[in-house]
Amino acid sequence: MNASKRPRVLVARRIFPSVVARLREHFEVDTHDSDTALSQAELIARLQGCQGVFVAGTEPITGELIAACPGLKAVCSMAVGYNNIDVPACTARGVLVSNAPGVLTETTADFGFALMMATARRITESERYLRCGEWTTWQVDLFAGADIHGATLGILGMGRIGQAIARRGALGFGMKLAYHNRSRLSEAEEAELGARYLSKEALLREADHLVIVVPYSPASHHLIGAAELALMKPSATLTNVARGGVVDDAALARALHERRIAAAGLDVYEGEPAVHPDLLTVPNVVLTPHIASASGPTRLAMCELAASNLIAALIGGTPPTALNSQVLQP
Ligand code: DGY
Repeated sequence: MNASKRPRVLVARRIFPSVVARLREHFEVDTHDSDTALSQAELIARLQGCQGVFVAGTEPITGELIAACPGLKAVCSMAVGYNNIDVPACTARGVLVSNAPGVLTETTADFGFALMMATARRITESERYLRCGEWTTWQVDLFAGADIHGATLGILGMGRIGQAIARRGALGFGMKLAYHNRSRLSEAEEAELGARYLSKEALLREADHLVIVVPYSPASHHLIGAAELALMKPSATLTNVARGGVVDDAALARALHERRIAAAGLDVYEGEPAVHPDLLTVPNVVLTPHIASASGPTRLAMCELAASNLIAALIGGTPPTALNSQVLQP
């Protein structure tokens, strides 16, 4: 394509050089080659003259930004969660939005399951103890945790990732499955997974290990707070691989401190990368820095999918995972 006619795009994060090189085959590419997210004001300034932007789940794509960047035609994210993007505002201005579902399902489910196991079996807590030189003798109940096999796995949010975690629990570990979701699965899907549908309250009461996989939205803000934690068994664990803000972190830290529940595993936090200070001082929580989808191949696949969406949206073709493909209708 004639270089002067090529659309201009901003890659708003440091990503894989091979993906930037692929984008350069089609676009004039500006890169923010950094691990620090641009602020909204910085994004607005950098997006003047751009038709497309490649983002992660961290860049605020607000209605104000969309109004201030009239040339923008496509916002393509490498994340599956898109609570950082005002999709209705984009749709209203004819801006295509895409996310990256599917390619990270199994990797994220692997991690969610691993985090749940690490939490139940007190892996990081016991490792800290060993590294500090505190291990002096074998003890009958040293770091005795909860079993996974045969326990009830409660899944809050039964989308792709929730179902992939459910399969691991049922097929690999003989767990009993219960779930709550905004929309109930079909009878056939429930039968295939062997999952019982429960109200949120019943799920909280019954789960031995609760895994949260719901997208963040105003409706799911603090879906789990003090009242919900009070319904859980004192022996239960809670694992969150969804989004910060779905769990009230202050209430969770209190519940862990008071042993209202046994333990938690968290990959996401309200206001991350800041972590509620009380979570840093309780021993019975496993904390990881938002890495559930972070296997090398999967992060590359997420970037490639965002690039494919950007290329299709601005050069031609059908963006594979558009969230508002109606903007492409003539
Ligand atoms: C996602 O894809 O939503 C992950 O949480 C990474 O941001």
